[in-house]
Amino acid sequence: MAHPPVARGHERIETNNLLMIVLILAAVAVGGIVEIVPLFFQASTTQPVPGVRPYTALQLAGRDVYQREGCFYCHSQMIRRLQAETLRYGHYSLAGESVYDHPFLWGSERQGPDLARVGGKYSDEWHRIHLNNPRDLVPESIMPAYPWLAHAPVDAAGMAPRMRALRRVGVPYTDAEIGAAAADVKDKTELDALIAYLQVLGTAVK
Ligand code: HEC
Repeated sequence: MAHPPVARGHERIETNNLLMIVLILAAVAVGGIVEIVPLFFQASTTQPVPGVRPYTALQLAGRDVYQREGCFYCHSQMIRRLQAETLRYGHYSLAGESVYDHPFLWGSERQGPDLARVGGKYSDEWHRIHLNNPRDLVPESIMPAYPWLAHAPVDAAGMAPRMRALRRVGVPYTDAEIGAAAADVKDKTELDALIAYLQVLGTAVK
């Protein structure tokens, strides 16, 4: 009587679902760890690019407005290494430019242009008009108008606690900077803050 051939080696793995699943998971986990873990220790991903500074109190207030108003639903802040992108937006984004961003606002949706290097592209006055009503400058624009920002004062008392919270996750704010936060944003509107934020985006890398 002929015996069925005994499964050996690779065949044994390929004919056993459970063993196959366990080994695939192990292989993927090892591959993932090998790729991801070094990122936590590489200087290029953990150290700020020369020239990158923590946001000032006013810029930080603007960043909060940017998040609250959901600008990232339409605007990415991540220039990829493709020629079409670097020709249009400038140098591709470096990890070290975002070390002080908690959370990151890289985004992926692009109803509007990428904003990673919009700092210095337009004057403050341009932004003022554009944010108040984009169609005053770009007639075909589908961007919403944000007219209330010009009348909303920045929450001055809230800035120091926010900076202290960021310091706990690694942003090197000094006590003096935190102490001066309320004075920095005194009498500023949310529009001033948002423009200060937009104008610093991507300016550390030439
Ligand atoms: C519904 C999608 C949408 C939202 C939300 C949106 N934008 Fe836009 N944005 C656009 C589009 C489309 C353009 C291109 C037309 C124009 O310039 O108005 C644009 C252009 C811009 C530009 C000019 C960029 C350049 O390089 O010319 C800036 C700056 C900007 N948006 C900032 C903001 C900010 C800040 C917010 C949040 C307060 C915001 N946008 C919210 C769609 C959007």
